Amino acid sequence: MSEWQIKRLSGSLGAEVSGVDLGEPSDADIARVKELLIEHKVLFFPGQTISLDQHVSLGEHFGKIENHPNLKNPFTDHPGVFELAATQGGIADEWHTDITFEDQPSMVSVLHMVKCPDVGGDTMWTSLEQAYDELSEPMKVICESLTALHDALPHNRPDKMAIHPVVRVHPETGKKSLYVNEHFTRRLVELNWSESRALLNYLTEWVKNPRFTVRYSWTPGTVAIWDNRCTQHFVLNDFEGERIIQRVTVMGDEVTAAQPPVYEPYVRSGPLSATSRHDRQLMLYFKERGEVDAQPEQLNSKNG
Ligand SMILES: [Fe+2]
Repeated sequence: MSEWQIKRLSGSLGAEVSGVDLGEPSDADIARVKELLIEHKVLFFPGQTISLDQHVSLGEHFGKIENHPNLKNPFTDHPGVFELAATQGGIADEWHTDITFEDQPSMVSVLHMVKCPDVGGDTMWTSLEQAYDELSEPMKVICESLTALHDALPHNRPDKMAIHPVVRVHPETGKKSLYVNEHFTRRLVELNWSESRALLNYLTEWVKNPRFTVRYSWTPGTVAIWDNRCTQHFVLNDFEGERIIQRVTVMGDEVTAAQPPVYEPYVRSGPLSATSRHDRQLMLYFKERGEVDAQPEQLNSKNG
C-alpha cells in the first residue's frame, strides 16, 4: 500500500489527502477514506485522474447515487453526474447544505474539479457541529425544540418542501449539528413569522463564523468528498472565465432529531389579516399532507 499523507487545513474541519488513487481504490482505501471523512468532514484529493464512470463508482461506495432533482447538466448527460458550469449560472455563492428541501437530503457529495479559473473560485465549508457546540446552553435548548421548513425556491420550485429538525444527530458519531441554511431554509415552524425571521437570520449568520470554516483553492483534477450531514459550503463568486465541477450525490440520509418535537407548528386559524401571508407556505405544507384543515382563502393571496 502506498504512503498516505494527511494535512489538516484548518482548526475546524478539512484535510488534504495524497497517496491514494481514487480511480481504482481498494476496499482498504475506501475504508480509510470513510474514517477520514468522519474525522475531518471534508477531504481534498489533488492530482486525481478519474473518468465519469470512476467518479460514479467512487460515490457508490458511500450509498445510492441520485440525479439532481431539479437541474439539468450543461455539458454531460452521464446519469448520476451533476454538472455545474459557471457560464451556465452554476455558482453556488450562498451558504447551503445540498438539497435540504428533500425529506432525505444528500448524505455525501463527491466533487470532481474539471476546470477552474486561474484566480478565485475557492470553495468554503463550515462545521455545523462546531456551530452547534459554541451556542450558549439556553440557545441550544431553544434550537433543539424547533424544526424548520426548507424549500427549493432557489431552483424555482418553492412547492418542493421538507421539514427537518433545527438540531440533528449524526447517525455515525452521535454528534449534534445546527441544521439550517440561508439558501433553502425559510421558516422556523413552531415560531411566529417575526420570531422566526429574527432567530433564523441569527443562526444562518452564526454558522458563517470564520473560525468554523475552511477555504480551499482548487487545482484541476482535485476530488473533494464532504459529509452533508454536518457541513455547509459556499463558492466564492470572485473569478472570471469558466469553472466546471462535476458532482456525484449520495442519497439515503435519514435526518434524526436531537429530541422529539416539543411544540405544535405555528399555523393560525381564524380571520385573515395582513400578516397571514407569512404563514401561507407553512399552512400549504401541512395542508398537502392532510395535517391541517386550511380554508382556501387562507392559501391564496388576498392582501390589498
Ligand atoms: Fe452545493
